[in-house]
Amino acid sequence: MQKGSENQATSDESAALHELIRREIESRGPITFARFMELALYHPDHGYYERALDQIGRRGDYYTSVSVGSVFGKLLAVDFSARLEKLNSAGFDLVECGAHDGTLAADILTATKTARPDLYAKLRYVIIEPSPKRKAAQRMNVSEHLDRVSWCQAIDELGNGSVHGVVFANELLDSFPLHRLRWSRQQRQWHEDGVGLDGGRFVWVDMGGFGGTPRTGGPDEAAEADSDWRAICATAQALAEVLPDGFRLDYCPGAARWWRKAATALAKGALITIDYGLTREELFSPHRQNGTARAYCRHTVDDELLEMPGEKDLTAHVDFSALIEAGEAQGLVTERMVDQATYIMRILQHSGELLNSALALTQRDRAALLTLAHPSGLGRAFRVLSQVHGG
Ligand SMILES: C[S@@+](CC[C@H](N)C(=O)[O-])C[C@H]1O[C@@H](n2cnc3c(N)ncnc32)[C@H](O)[C@@H]1O
Repeated sequence: MQKGSENQATSDESAALHELIRREIESRGPITFARFMELALYHPDHGYYERALDQIGRRGDYYTSVSVGSVFGKLLAVDFSARLEKLNSAGFDLVECGAHDGTLAADILTATKTARPDLYAKLRYVIIEPSPKRKAAQRMNVSEHLDRVSWCQAIDELGNGSVHGVVFANELLDSFPLHRLRWSRQQRQWHEDGVGLDGGRFVWVDMGGFGGTPRTGGPDEAAEADSDWRAICATAQALAEVLPDGFRLDYCPGAARWWRKAATALAKGALITIDYGLTREELFSPHRQNGTARAYCRHTVDDELLEMPGEKDLTAHVDFSALIEAGEAQGLVTERMVDQATYIMRILQHSGELLNSALALTQRDRAALLTLAHPSGLGRAFRVLSQVHGG
């Protein structure tokens, strides 16, 4: 058993969550970190994302490109409009997942209405949102566009080949539950670090060898399900002579599964994610030997992942190689993966005129652009992966 950190609860809600997780471990034994993270972030009453929606921005725990200002939504609106126009369809879909309080949706809809009223008139904006509380907040923020917006609870509800347009997510996949794995050099296999109890405190426990996660779908789930796990094992075996004992990998099976479902929903158009993440090669680099899982609280970052469940955001870098492979297995073609700075520069180069004229970028927008694109801001750490379908 490894030593855990002090993980005292600091609020009534956090205390309730702490108690709930403690009881689950007492009755079932140690739980995976994926289960701990699911409860800490998404428990319907006490989870971090189910409390007040003020986690993001200056008064919250971290910034996103959306909280920097509405210019991010304007940029996406311009990129998406160019894509929709090329589709030459009678109607277009924009599908957003991880819409949080609906700010980005409102920014994109307002910018599209202003710059391209012709496309706006043919638009169906779908938000994928499992939480009734967040749906209510989103509904308020998009109140001026309710005739364009509808909601689904899960990406599967879209139906195969039903989307003509763009399916996208900003900082969604980094918040999916993950398994904390540790390489045993002697046994040449991965072990899973789960969460146990030591006198009421959460501590890390070795749960033994990890062989992948159980299938979530029925018999019709694609044969290539969890090919990301097989690729991770193959990479580890290929590096077995040099991979240090105890090397950590934070494995998130849900990300590639989500991507696969989103790819299936697309008939024509693009699947896009904007997030911090790495290729598989980068995830295995020597300076990543402690993994990438982190906790955010009040704009400080640490790796005390078991501390104060429900009060901290828990997150890890996305495995972009897994997404690329999952999309290509579903017939998508990888358009590009670039850092956010390059993505923004391309939009400015191709559509700067539209942004300046119809969207009338303000001084504030221009200052925000610097934060979004500068390498020391969000420009280098964030990457944009786009895959396309249907030409
Ligand atoms: C980091 S926040 C996203 C921030 C937001 N997109 C922005 O840019 O400000 C992640 C959001 O994804 C939501 N989320 C997590 N899992 C989800 C899922 N399976 N479907 C839809 N939303 C999900 C969370 O509740 C949270 O609101």
